[in-house]
Amino acid sequence: MPSMSANNFSRNTYHHQTKGDFFARKQKIEQQRKNLPIAAVERRLVEEVRNNDTLIIVGETGSGKTTQIPQYLFKGGFCRDGGIIGITQPRRVAAITVAKRVAEECGVPLGQEVGYAIRFEDVTSGQTKIKYMTDGLLLREALLDPYLSKYSVIIVDEAHERTIHTDVLLGLLKNVHKARSKSINGVANTEHNNNLNNGHALEERIDNQNDGILKACQAKKYSPLKLIIMSASLDARVFSEYFGGARAVHVQGRQFPVDIFYTHKPETDCIDAALITIFQIHLEEGPGDILVFLTGQEEIESVERLIHERLRQLPEGSRKLLTFPIFSSLPSEKQMKVFMPSPAGYRKVILATNIAETSVTIPGIKYVVDPGLVKARTYDPKMGVDSLIIVTTSKAQALQRSGRAGREGPGKCYRLYQESFFEKLTDSTLPEIRRCDLLNVVLQLKALGIDDVINFDFIEKPDRTAIVNSLWSLYLLGAVTEENKLSDVGHQMARLPLDPVYSKALIVASQFGCLKEMLICVAMLSVESIFYAPREKLEESRNALKSFASPEGDHLTLLNVYLTADEFFQKNKTVNSEEKAEKNLRKWCKDNYINSRSLKHARDIHSQILRNVEQMGLCVTSCEDDTLLFRRCLAASFFLKAAMKQPDGAYRVTLSGLIVQIHPSSVLFRAKPECIVFNELVHTNHSYVRNVSRIDYLWLVELAPHLYAVQD
Ligand code: CDP
Ligand code: MG
Repeated sequence: MPSMSANNFSRNTYHHQTKGDFFARKQKIEQQRKNLPIAAVERRLVEEVRNNDTLIIVGETGSGKTTQIPQYLFKGGFCRDGGIIGITQPRRVAAITVAKRVAEECGVPLGQEVGYAIRFEDVTSGQTKIKYMTDGLLLREALLDPYLSKYSVIIVDEAHERTIHTDVLLGLLKNVHKARSKSINGVANTEHNNNLNNGHALEERIDNQNDGILKACQAKKYSPLKLIIMSASLDARVFSEYFGGARAVHVQGRQFPVDIFYTHKPETDCIDAALITIFQIHLEEGPGDILVFLTGQEEIESVERLIHERLRQLPEGSRKLLTFPIFSSLPSEKQMKVFMPSPAGYRKVILATNIAETSVTIPGIKYVVDPGLVKARTYDPKMGVDSLIIVTTSKAQALQRSGRAGREGPGKCYRLYQESFFEKLTDSTLPEIRRCDLLNVVLQLKALGIDDVINFDFIEKPDRTAIVNSLWSLYLLGAVTEENKLSDVGHQMARLPLDPVYSKALIVASQFGCLKEMLICVAMLSVESIFYAPREKLEESRNALKSFASPEGDHLTLLNVYLTADEFFQKNKTVNSEEKAEKNLRKWCKDNYINSRSLKHARDIHSQILRNVEQMGLCVTSCEDDTLLFRRCLAASFFLKAAMKQPDGAYRVTLSGLIVQIHPSSVLFRAKPECIVFNELVHTNHSYVRNVSRIDYLWLVELAPHLYAVQD
């Protein structure tokens, strides 16, 4: 009998579910719910929420906070007045998988009573009572509904992660919470009432500095908001203090002992060390699934491939190992597979980013492999450089990771570093707001009516230089006036769910008459790696890229890929069903070394932002083949990131003076034009720029005269 591949296997198992299976699963889920540590304190928790308008709930990962508490509150009557329960997550995958799980637990179709919303995807309806969403999405909702009036309860989950959006959200919610409590006794102002949810009211509030939300909120009576902050870290003090001594409750977790193993000598090749450990566990240890922490999609995909390669070399009886990747940009239908129990006799290896640290709990894990690394955002305010780099985890992260092995019984954790190295790790990670570019944050706060960003009541103040730099960049982009107020362009930029620089590019393109092209370009720039270049087929993938490559740069190359794919798809659709055409498109992607998931994501983003710009009344015209006009538009949009070639072939970023190289993945890597604009800076052993286009320096002088002058 031929051995079954992982994919075939899972497809067979999940699609042929009988009625009996369905009831068995329902019963099992009920049992699991009852056994969760949090189930024992349901009544007490509901009482605590009733008695406290702000509450901090601390509980170990896996105790049932995220999936159960919203259901308890719903049952406890917190939606009775028509309000809904909103739960924010730092990560998209968590919002999606948890919403699916909770819909299943409640026995309702996803998107009805239980739903989720993330950027570019809204799976909720008028009936939705429990809504999972990313923290960034709730911030966006506040732009249109400053008092978040449809929510009776807002739960900020995973607050210990301290992502930039969580921190901003906490500050905003503090205001909204205050305002909604006060509005009970507030003055009624009918004119304001009528304008509450439109941009007009928003603009009026902008004059009101920090108390903007408060004043506007007093105009209408709102029911008070129940605010819950949930965290997996034991230290609730920082949240409690920030919310004026708010009450904190601890939920007992259930943790079995976990044996920790360290390596004897430092590992130089992390991937190889991880592979050896995975197979060592698989061949020598008893049953139980393995969770491996890796730094990102690329690393996960290559480890997955290597596992399959090595499995083929094993005798047939030892091949019962299934791999399941989980990372943020994984399509949602694949994300859920990770939660399915492994078939009898098989062992699962879950290859995850730090998403599996606390955001999602996967049942069945007994072994954890932790290389001790994580991809993190860092920001250099002096250089104005924001980049993703791989850094060592903190002690807190290492402990969270090893804890994943002891959820259901005693477990083992293999740290791929030496014990002495652990001692050198920092205790906890620096909040993201201290190591991030703040352009988007400053723009959003301004759009929310908070003009004095420097004195905003952040839970942790960001670096002052970083704020000032962001204000300066926003001014250069025309989003902020000389009086430090948000301009009309700034308002438009804040409305688009994109990086502010990309939003600006769309506005500029509508004036240049190439918005059709720029929409595509921005959608393609907003997704991870469009090109798929497996190590063993580097040559073939490079050749495939050549057929799309534009000598003028990566932006036009991305445009070519999208347009060619779209033409293929549209033609296919005239003779095939939509489903068949989608399938053919995936095949086309494979043949052309294009990452079909990324392309699909870009197509989705494109249709969403197309709707956005149409609603804003921007004119979607095409410049057809006028690539010169398009590149001039790129220069007018991305002038903050321009660089000039130096005599030695390196580039000097004009604004920061930073010396960079063109990334080898760029179509301009060899061409080395005199002057370029780029979108991304990455640091490895060198500083590289990616997504690069050739421009003429004189265009900068003409199109961004406030920054560039004619050079001698
Ligand atoms: O939020 P917290 O870490 O406290 O726990 P949770 O995410 O509510 O998870 C509670 C339980 O539900 C865990 O034991 C998970 O194994 C299970 N769960 C699941 O089986 N499938 C999901 N998609 C999510 C959670
Ligand atoms: Mg949770």
